[in-house]
Amino acid sequence: MTGPLLKLEHLEVRYGDLIGVSDVSLEVPAGSVVALLGSNGGGKTTTLNAIAGLIPVHSGTISFNGEEVQISSPADARALGIATVYQDLALCDNLDVVANLWLGRELVTSGGLDEVEMEQRTWTLLRELSAKIPSVRIPVAGLSGGQRQTVAIARSLIGDPRVVILDEPTAALGVAQTAEVLNLIERLRERGHGVILISHNMADVLAVADRVVVLRLGRNNGVFNAVEVTSETLVAAITGASGGARRAAAAPPPPPEAKITRLPSARPRRIDPPSAGGR
Ligand SMILES: Nc1ncnc2c1ncn2[C@@H]1O[C@H](COP(=O)(O)OP(=O)(O)OP(=O)(O)O)[C@@H](O)[C@H]1O
Ligand SMILES: [Mg+2]
Repeated sequence: MTGPLLKLEHLEVRYGDLIGVSDVSLEVPAGSVVALLGSNGGGKTTTLNAIAGLIPVHSGTISFNGEEVQISSPADARALGIATVYQDLALCDNLDVVANLWLGRELVTSGGLDEVEMEQRTWTLLRELSAKIPSVRIPVAGLSGGQRQTVAIARSLIGDPRVVILDEPTAALGVAQTAEVLNLIERLRERGHGVILISHNMADVLAVADRVVVLRLGRNNGVFNAVEVTSETLVAAITGASGGARRAAAAPPPPPEAKITRLPSARPRRIDPPSAGGR
């Protein structure tokens, strides 16, 4: 498949008579990170909710793997291969890492839960993600914010989704933990997932995104190549402050091929945490 994994075209979503988003279009190629940036009320969560099947689409289309799809429930989204990590993470604090990862999808043998297999697969996944989790047999209540985010992201990968949506994954994190999560997002891209990163944080977005989609007042206000765009341009698009933003909004989005060529190996961007503090 050469087209984007996920494509939204002119999406309109309403809350009763109120318009949540009026015209949102975006494309998420495999192996890329697309950031959704915008100020409060811009429409980020509404867009996420529509993709995740939490709220119906009023008009416009969602296509997955080149085919138009109806996503009427979270189960529909999961079945297509779209996983969402919500800001509250929804982890069970009293359960350990393995139990949280496999909750509701436990592996069983004839004798009951296959704890050994689940633990081995958990370690394999965490190693693939270069995750720094000291033990998978401690309750997640004892983990740091960054580690909890890691567990939530790892859990979202259990069903082998193609697209992973992360809602403000660094909002509650310190500097070192943020760096860990940004590295994790790069691992997701390396694994070939299409990642949607919802964020308020321009530095995070510029550190990991390939493409930045700015939403303002429920509609697109520019699609930018994250390698080339400056934070000034993004601020202008977010706030609608300048003619520059309007010009950028009018410019055609970069072709998907141009984005896919930007592999981590072409531009290593390891985000190293500072040597002290942050935990
Ligand atoms: N449950 C709701 N009922 C009615 N209107 C809503 C609801 N949720 C969001 N809206 C409206 O939809 C628009 C988009 O809001 P949304 O929450 O998607 O923005 P956002 O970009 O996620 O903002 P934030 O950065 O504050 O999280 C806003 O005008 C908002 O008031
Ligand atoms: Mg929101």
